Amino acid sequence: MILQYIKNVYITFSDSGHQHPRVKTGSALAKAGLKKIVLKKVMSSLKSMPTLPPGTKPLDNQVAGHQNTDGKIGCLQHEDGTILKPVQVPPKGQTEVEFYEEVFGEQASTDKVLLQLRELVPKFHAIVHAPKEPNVRFMKLENLLEDMKHPCVLDIKMGRKTYDPFASKEKIAMETAKFPPAKNIGYQISGMLTYSPKSGKFQKFDKYFCKNLDEESIVYQGFGKFFSVDGVLQKEVIKAVIERLQRILEWFLKQRTFNFFASSLLVVFDGDISPSPQSPAWSSPGPGEDVVDSCCNGETDSIIENDVSDLISCNSVDSKTNRAPSTHPKVQVRMIDFAHVFHMENEDENYIFGLKHLIDDLHRLMKS
Ligand SMILES: Nc1ncnc2c1ncn2[C@@H]1O[C@H](COP(=O)(O)OP(=O)(O)O)[C@@H](O)[C@H]1O
Ligand SMILES: [Mg+2]
Repeated sequence: MILQYIKNVYITFSDSGHQHPRVKTGSALAKAGLKKIVLKKVMSSLKSMPTLPPGTKPLDNQVAGHQNTDGKIGCLQHEDGTILKPVQVPPKGQTEVEFYEEVFGEQASTDKVLLQLRELVPKFHAIVHAPKEPNVRFMKLENLLEDMKHPCVLDIKMGRKTYDPFASKEKIAMETAKFPPAKNIGYQISGMLTYSPKSGKFQKFDKYFCKNLDEESIVYQGFGKFFSVDGVLQKEVIKAVIERLQRILEWFLKQRTFNFFASSLLVVFDGDISPSPQSPAWSSPGPGEDVVDSCCNGETDSIIENDVSDLISCNSVDSKTNRAPSTHPKVQVRMIDFAHVFHMENEDENYIFGLKHLIDDLHRLMKS
């Protein structure tokens, strides 16, 4: 377990998609510095590593939020296929727990808004306690990366304002300074992870990379990078993501129950594809192409996530063309992170503004 943890810490750091501002690679000095930093990071994590609940390890491929470093516990993945997200200190932790309990509680089964919301967030299973530390609690949630061989992950924090109505002046100043373009576009990227089938490697883009984007580069350098697999822009994936975002928008336009602050959208797709120049991955099939073989990498029962009725399993046959339909990616888009959710009866303009902008920006990327 500890070895695995060291490996995770090292891979996360060494695969970072950006250079730490103070680290210059290429010189022996920089390399020595890098080794020292990695070692320091590993040692400090080991020194005070808390006991993890049995059957868990730090979540592979976490891209943002509270991380499993410096003796702190971040998200954990359980061998049963769920994740355990630590309940944060009050009031944030309690707010998130109450939100999940409300959405997945018995009373919600007669409330249309809450029932629809269940489809847009990870499934909530239970609150669990750490065995030796009863005060450490976790939310047991659906792991959105489950069943993906090489998940590409994007965390988009939503809203022009990422501070709640009760935030102090200092908090407002701090949040606004984190990414000033959010005021105009209504969202920001908190972190992302890409996968290259050619090299077999993941690449992580952390908050330093994301902070340096602006209103334009967030679309082409940010999303452009995320939705490209080995240099090929995955337009089918973007299309599927837009469809899911539209559904989230529809829900927001109807509901008058919650306002969400500093909440994120988690976008995930499986980067495990083998693009070829003739047949860009996940494009519509050309004449005579053997779609079944290429679309599922040998798995013929692969079905699209999020039960999209117009997206079908890739071994079925299109009745009009009498051949297999176009390939479809495995895509997940869900709302996550509910530490600042409030019951409010007004439309959530702050979130809706960002969501509309995000959809427009992805349309622009599609057309590029
Ligand atoms: N249900 C989930 N399935 C898979 N990964 C998740 C899930 N929830 C969170 N994550 C990962 O953990 C990160 C942080 O989650 P988040 O809920 O935003 O925590 P925090 O409150 O620490 O910001 C996300 O960016 C994502 O990488
Ligand atoms: Mg978060």
